[in-house]
Formats: sequence, structure tokens, C-alpha cells
Amino acid sequence: MTWLRRTLPLLLVFASHGALAAGDPASGKTVFVQCSACHSLVAGKNGIGPSLHGVIGRKSGSLAGYNYSPAMKAAGITWGEDTLFKYLAAPKAFVPGNKMPFMGVKDDQKRADVVAYLKQASQ
Ligand code: HEC
Repeated sequence: MTWLRRTLPLLLVFASHGALAAGDPASGKTVFVQCSACHSLVAGKNGIGPSLHGVIGRKSGSLAGYNYSPAMKAAGITWGEDTLFKYLAAPKAFVPGNKMPFMGVKDDQKRADVVAYLKQASQ
């Protein structure tokens, strides 16, 4: 049964990756506390960062009345679950030259959770 001992850990890895896709909005709300230092979810309320109201489906750097970096304006990204998940892993790497002074959320599950929360709370 050595094959089982070898394959079982692999299967578990796949299973946990499968679970990542489903972020938990309730737990994401606690992760969002970090973001709320700079971002509001209220329409038109910009802080250090742009309002994240309606961010799902929005083009990067496109909110009128917020002073984006040239890099964010030129990035040409549409914010969705996938692009947010990637951006928030390493903001400086995903949009080089953007001015968000934030290291990102390294933990995959927490990042999936905060994206799930945004999907719900940014509408
Ligand atoms: C210390 C302040 C700060 C924190 C903390 C922060 N951000 Fe930002 N964020 C910014 C700034 C500033 C920008 C604008 C970047 C630019 O113009 O280059 C930005 C841009 C963004 C954008 C692009 C918005 C657009 O309209 O294109 C998203 C999405 C975003 N942040 C999400 C988040 C999330 C989610 C978190 C928490 C996990 C977070 N940010 C944490 C300051 C912050």
C-alpha cells in the first residue's frame, strides 16, 4: 500500500486547493480591517486609497475624483475575483509602480476570503 501513502498527501493538497476557490466572506470581513485604514466601501468616499464600492467589474485606475498613480491608470486591468486575488498577493509585482503602500495578503485562504467579502460588500 505504499502507493496510497504516496498519493494520499497529494490528494489532500488538491483538496485544500479546491477549498481555496471558495472564500469565506465572514472571515474576509476581518481581513478587510487592514484595508479599511485606506479604503472605504461607501460610494465616492475616497481615503488614502480609492473607494472600493463597485470595485468588482471596474477598470483599474478609473474612479473619477481619485488621484491614481500613472501605473494604475495605465494597468488596463478589470477587477474581478481572479485579478483581485493576484493583485492582493503581491501588489507591487502585479502592478509595477502602483502606489498602494501595502505588502499584500500572503495567506491564500485569507486572500480568497477578503475577495469573497469584497464581492459581497462592494455592491
Ligand atoms: C496603506 C494604505 C492601503 C492599504 C492598507 C490598502 N490599500 Fe489598496 N490602495 C491604496 C492606494 C493608495 C491605492 C491606489 C494605487 C495607485 O493609484 O497606484 C490602492 C488601490 C487599490 C485597488 C485598485 C483600485 C482601483 O480603483 O483601481 C484595489 C482593488 C485595492 N487597493 C484593494 C485593497 C485591498 C482589498 C486591501 C486590503 C487587503 C488594500 N487595498 C489595502 C492604499 C491602500
